[in-house]
Amino acid sequence: MSIILSLETSCDESAAALVSNEKGRIELLANEIASQIEEHARWGGVVPEIASRRHLENLPFLIEQVFVKSKLNIKDIDAVAATVTPGLAGSLLVGSITARTIANLNQIPFLGVHHLEGHLSSIYLAENHPTPPFLVLLVSGGHTELIKVDADHKYQRLGRSHDDAAGEAFDKVARLLGLSYPGGPAIQKIAKFGDPKRFLFPKGRVSKPEGGFYPYDFSFSGLKTAVFRQIEKLKSDNQKLPSEDIAASFENVVAEVLVERSLRCVIDQGLNSLVLVGGVAANKRLRKMMLEKASQKSINITLAPMEFCTDNAAMIGAAALFRLSSKNNKSSIELGVSARWPLEKSDLLYDFPPPF
Ligand code: KG4
Ligand code: ZN
Repeated sequence: MSIILSLETSCDESAAALVSNEKGRIELLANEIASQIEEHARWGGVVPEIASRRHLENLPFLIEQVFVKSKLNIKDIDAVAATVTPGLAGSLLVGSITARTIANLNQIPFLGVHHLEGHLSSIYLAENHPTPPFLVLLVSGGHTELIKVDADHKYQRLGRSHDDAAGEAFDKVARLLGLSYPGGPAIQKIAKFGDPKRFLFPKGRVSKPEGGFYPYDFSFSGLKTAVFRQIEKLKSDNQKLPSEDIAASFENVVAEVLVERSLRCVIDQGLNSLVLVGGVAANKRLRKMMLEKASQKSINITLAPMEFCTDNAAMIGAAALFRLSSKNNKSSIELGVSARWPLEKSDLLYDFPPPF
C-alpha cells in the first residue's frame, strides 16, 4: 500500500489531498480545496498574478489540514505529487516547488502529474469504474478533447476544439448575459427555467481543407458570436432580454454537440465505453443527455463524480498512485513546469533527464 500527498495549483483552485491504494482500490484519506473564484470573479476571469500569490498563501494551510483531518504524519507518506503541466506557469510553480521541497526533505519520490491525466483519473474515484480501453470526453475551461485510452493506458487524441474550449464558451456567454464567473454554474442555474428550443444556435463544425468536416472536432467561437448577435438584435428591438431562454438554448446545443460527436467516435472506434470528465462534466443537462442517448445505443457511460469534475487534488493523487504502483514511475527532482504539454507525451514526465 502507498500513501501519496498530492497538490493541485494549475489554475484558480489551490488543493491538497492524501490518497492511498488498498487492495487495488483508491481511498481518499483527506481532500481540501481553497477556491479563489470569488476573488477572480471581480475581474471576470482568472488573473494569473493573483492566482499564484493566493496559491502561495493557501498551500501550507491546506497541507496542514489534510494531515490534521487524516490524523497522519508526514512520515506516513510514500510520495508527493503535484500538477506540472498544462496550466498557468506561475501557479504550477508554486505546487511543484512545494512538492519537490517536501520530497527532498523527506527523501521520498516526487511525481509530476499531467493535469489532463488527473481529470481522466477522476473516474477512478467513482464507485464502479471501467478499465481501458475506453473513450474519454474531457471538457474543461481549457480543453475539449476526445481521447482514446487503450488497454495498456496509452493515449491517442481523436478530437479537439479548434478554438474555444467548451468551458471557455460557457464563461464567455455568461459574460454576454451579465452573469458571474465561472460561467458554467451560472448558466446552468438560469437555464433550468428557460426554453432550450427557443433559439437555434449553430453546432460549429470544422471543415477539412479537402472538403467535408472533421467528425470528432469542435468549434465554439461561432456559437459564442451567434449568441452575441442574438443579444444585440433583441436589444436593438428594445426587447427585454430572455436570458433564461438564451442560456437554455446555448447549454442545450453545447450538450448536443458534445454527446453526438463523442458517441459517434466511440462507435466508429469499435468501443462500448465512454467516460465523461472535467469541469463541464458537472453540467446536469450534459450528464442527463449523455446517459439517455448512450443507453439507446447500448454504450456504457461513466460520469466523473460531481465533486471531482472541477479542479481538485484527489484526482492528481489518483493519477500519481496509478503511475507509482503500476509502473513504478517517479519524476526527476529537476522536473520543472510547462504551460503546455501534450497528454500523449505524459510518459516523458517520468524520464531522466526530464523534458522541461
Ligand atoms: O476542470 P476545470 O475546473 O478547470 C480547468 O481545468 O479548466 O473546469 C472549469 C470550467 C469553467 O469553464 C466552468 O465554467 C466550467 O468548467 N464548469 C461548468 C460547470 N461547472 C464548471 N460548465 C458547465 N456546467 C457546469 N455545471
Ligand atoms: Zn482542470
